[in-house]
Amino acid sequence: MRPAVVHFPLSLMNKSPDQNTPASQNGSTSSAKSASPVFAGQTAIVTGGASGLGLAITRRLQSQGAYVIVFDLETPRLAELTREFGASGRCVAIDVTNEATVKSTVDAIASERGRIDILVNSAGMTGRTNLKSHEVDLADFERVMRLNVNGPFLTSKAVLPVMLQRKYGRILHIASIAGKEGNAGMMAYSTSKAAVIGLTKVQGKDYAESGITVNALAPAVIQTPMVAALPEAQVKYMTDKIPMKRCGSLDEVAAIAAFILSPEASFTTGFTFDLTGGRAVY
Ligand SMILES: NC(=O)c1ccc[n+]([C@@H]2O[C@H](COP(=O)([O-])OP(=O)(O)OC[C@H]3O[C@@H](n4cnc5c(N)ncnc54)[C@H](O)[C@@H]3O)[C@@H](O)[C@H]2O)c1
Repeated sequence: MRPAVVHFPLSLMNKSPDQNTPASQNGSTSSAKSASPVFAGQTAIVTGGASGLGLAITRRLQSQGAYVIVFDLETPRLAELTREFGASGRCVAIDVTNEATVKSTVDAIASERGRIDILVNSAGMTGRTNLKSHEVDLADFERVMRLNVNGPFLTSKAVLPVMLQRKYGRILHIASIAGKEGNAGMMAYSTSKAAVIGLTKVQGKDYAESGITVNALAPAVIQTPMVAALPEAQVKYMTDKIPMKRCGSLDEVAAIAAFILSPEASFTTGFTFDLTGGRAVY
């Protein structure tokens, strides 16, 4: 499904508050800002937004005024979600590992909306787990790397030129505690998430002077369809390591993501935020 292309007059496209200047420097106060929703007028893309963390973040951004376009694989669920979103966004069926399709879809959205303020990369997979490294199949390893690493690389590659034009952007890559610590039994997944953290560090520095922040989020276990599909032993291994002795909730994911993606989070980039109930204290 290709997004419809609607051209907006330039005067509308360029009208936006100076969202990169700290409130103390642009004369506004937080009480003046709270008069309109945090993401009013903004356009966001959320990959993997039809399920789990991506859907929770999508709903939070929409509830705070953003127009959110979900990139996800074609299923009947996409049409249902598009109906549910109403005027707050839509879903586009797209494989985020396909560079040409990602680029043409992002370009069409940029011409239609005149701006892309936010990119969240949540599409991801664990691949086969509960395996020693020598048991990992190369094809499975490559499949995990293609989605978890190529996906964020390709979507940010397509979106960054659009953000650079307006000197504003917020990119959030969903990494994992597995990328910081390495989860035994999850070599492909842990390796891919470590790569996402590396990507985030470089992109944070590459665009540090451009008004664009690039950060990652490293959650521990959050109950979603992805976790439900894991072997019980693998989930027990991960939850046993959480000092709070519970899974994180989707509300907790949405809350921290909303802060990282807000104009107010303007002095943090290249950073991997923790969401692990005390498992990682660095
Ligand atoms: N759930 C957790 O405990 C947890 C913990 C840490 C990190 N994460 C990360 O959070 C992200 C989301 O995980 P989740 O648990 O919400 O997973 P999920 O399986 O619920 O959702 C993932 C979504 O990605 C979509 N997707 C898969 N391949 C795609 C492709 N090629 N193109 C476009 N979309 C594609 C799926 O259709 C699905 O809607 C992942 O990157 C995951 O690694 C999850």
